[in-house]
Amino acid sequence: SRPLSVGVAGLGTVGAGVLKLLRENAGIVTARAGRPIAVTAVSARDRTRDRGVDLGGLRWYEDAVALAADPGVDVIVELIGGANGPARQLVQAGLAAGKPVVTANKALLAVHGAALGAQAEQAGVTLAFEAAVAGGIPVIKALREGLAGNRISKVAGILNGTCNYILTVMRERGREFAEVLAEAQKLGYAEADPSFDIDGVDAAHKLAILAALAFGRPVAFDEVHVEGIRHVSALDIAFARELGYRIKLLGLARRTEAGIAARVHPCMVPEAAPIARVDGVFNAVVAEGDFVGRIMLEGRGAGAGPTASAVVADLIDIARGRSTPVWGAASGHLSDAPSVPIGAHVGCYYLRL
Ligand code: NDP
Ligand code: HSE
Repeated sequence: SRPLSVGVAGLGTVGAGVLKLLRENAGIVTARAGRPIAVTAVSARDRTRDRGVDLGGLRWYEDAVALAADPGVDVIVELIGGANGPARQLVQAGLAAGKPVVTANKALLAVHGAALGAQAEQAGVTLAFEAAVAGGIPVIKALREGLAGNRISKVAGILNGTCNYILTVMRERGREFAEVLAEAQKLGYAEADPSFDIDGVDAAHKLAILAALAFGRPVAFDEVHVEGIRHVSALDIAFARELGYRIKLLGLARRTEAGIAARVHPCMVPEAAPIARVDGVFNAVVAEGDFVGRIMLEGRGAGAGPTASAVVADLIDIARGRSTPVWGAASGHLSDAPSVPIGAHVGCYYLRL
């Protein structure tokens, strides 16, 4: 049957990864999608840049937003990044044109997710974002589909691969923060502005998305208490180690009697806890539901391959005609109670997950 024609905006780490996956796994993807999925049009800033993928025969757009008006494009994939600017304009234009949109852009969704979700629902088209949280871990599907029968009380975890990579390498090899951050950037893990990673903002974006799905109401990112790892030193890590703990940047959202409390900050976790063993670029998401109990999903949280895997999963759903509403039905309300530090130590909190 007719191929699904895809327009990809953004050909950086993730965009190039998506083109590569669709080419290398074309047979598997076609079989699972029920038809071929072919990228036919692309957009990026610099036409001369070598991206390690062949762009021959693809329509090229200087202006990403123009992709939405290309009559040959069935689905828009937004991989530019940023909460505003061309990424937001393209997603809005794609939905307005009645085209399904796939995005990995957690900043956009954390700030404008509720409005974009409403636009998508009104237009009757899919807005899919499996890649926006925890890279290759299918956590959006898990929360929205696998745990759909549960009342979720807690969603938490390691939500930023760059920070977990930095903390792991600092602990294992005693290396300096700045040097390891540069390495994470080279590996394609970090955001275009890496302060989003190390200041906890990226993890807060993801937590806001997870909390919205878990608790069935939009959670604004600026309602999340945020601290990053900028001030965690090699000495802090060594002290934690001596005491039998590891320092992890965790995000935690829970349903309380007063509402939903959401926070991101460095934590001391006991070495024996499963989450303490999640190292390097790996992320882990823990959820607790009234019938399922506790589950933990673990996998690579950043980088070209894992993120492309999640984007292509969304494209396969769209090719198959499968879709789910963006946010669940509204329920619950936000707590304005501040997060409470327990046993503050080296700027970290103690947490048992
Ligand atoms: P990169 O910075 O590697 O790539 C961004 C791409 O967007 C570049 O190709 C750039 O063009 C292009 N771009 C920038 N501005 C424009 C514009 N105005 N019009 C058209 N294209 C533009 O980012 P990533 O691939 O790392 O990330 C992309 C998205 O995926 C972000 O939202 C990010 O948060 C998200 N994400 C990233 C993950 C990762 O591991 N890297 C994991 C999960 C999500 P050019 O190349 O010409 O400069
Ligand atoms: N910069 C992000 C991270 C990319 O390091 O987790 C994945 O969302």
